[in-house]
Amino acid sequence: MGERTMEKKPIVFSAIQPSGTMTLGNYLGAIKNWVSMQDEYFCFYALADLHTITVRQDPKEFRKNILDLYALLLACGVDPEKSVFFIQSHVSAHSQLAWLLNCYTQFGELSRMTQFKDKSRKHADNINAGLFTYPVLMAADILLYQADKVPVGADQLQHLEITRDIATRFNGLYGNVFKIPEGFVPKNGARVMSLQTPENKMSKSDENVNGCVYVLDKPETIMKKFKRAITDNDAQVRFDPENKPGITNLMTIYSAVTGLTSEQIESDFSGRGYGDFKTAVGEAVVENLRPIQNEYERIIKDRAFMEETWTKAADFAAKFSQRTLDKAMKKIGYIL
Ligand code: TYM
Repeated sequence: MGERTMEKKPIVFSAIQPSGTMTLGNYLGAIKNWVSMQDEYFCFYALADLHTITVRQDPKEFRKNILDLYALLLACGVDPEKSVFFIQSHVSAHSQLAWLLNCYTQFGELSRMTQFKDKSRKHADNINAGLFTYPVLMAADILLYQADKVPVGADQLQHLEITRDIATRFNGLYGNVFKIPEGFVPKNGARVMSLQTPENKMSKSDENVNGCVYVLDKPETIMKKFKRAITDNDAQVRFDPENKPGITNLMTIYSAVTGLTSEQIESDFSGRGYGDFKTAVGEAVVENLRPIQNEYERIIKDRAFMEETWTKAADFAAKFSQRTLDKAMKKIGYIL
């Protein structure tokens, strides 16, 4: 990877939390873009395991989730020959810059974060300071790498906005330290909704197991979940987020996996029932995920390869990010 730093490609940074197994929402909203951006951009991708402990984790399960997700991202096509794919906690600069940036972030702006409000409602018994300052750690992640673009789903755009605000404020005080990053969301799939309550985003914490499809779900489970998806009584496959959120969500998923436009889908399924449509969406998703599932089974058994990959990547990420951390510290007045 060393010689790649010489290439003048724009930089990408993104991360995903090992807080459970990957959902179809994660895949379509973010990971597909991670994979497709690897040739055009110089990409840093991380497992955001520091973020994950804002919600209490069982140590054994947490460790397993980290290993599984690392293998699964490789299986999705994150390519260590092209990208720097590391584990956030292996690179200490993330925690260090997060502390510094905490002192340049206002209580008021963090209080407005919708994810903080949602999560404090969900975990009312553990509203810890980390949950509150979570977006600052995310800002540190991104800013350390001078990222131009950040591929994410729509739910992370507010955090990206605060990242830009923090960076702009810091640069205003000290000169040009951080690149101001831009979000990058997919045309289809930026917000995949629950199959059971299509007003809410598809998420691991969905109370109804049928609401969320996991990338490692068995084909028959995926088919079952799509067949049970909530629709409406109007029997028309038509894109209408306001009045037909269930069907619209299925169309978004179908578009994201097949590349078909809404108009093509509407005409292909005109006069046909919802049953046909749900089956088609389920089958398209199963076919899309099949090669990933097969690769995952192979990679998860190869612990030596995974270890070698994350060690090399952390080395590179540590050297690269140290430059930004040093610059920020010098500007503040620290003696290095
Ligand atoms: P996380 O782990 O919740 O989700 C990982 C990525 O998946 C996207 N996503 C979705 N996209 C579409 N529809 C959905 N239903 C859906 N659910 C999740 C998310 O937008 C995200 O892109 N805080 C981040 C992780 C993070 C990060 C970063 C991201 C830490 N540092 C720096 C970007 C840059 C998170 O919890 O994502």
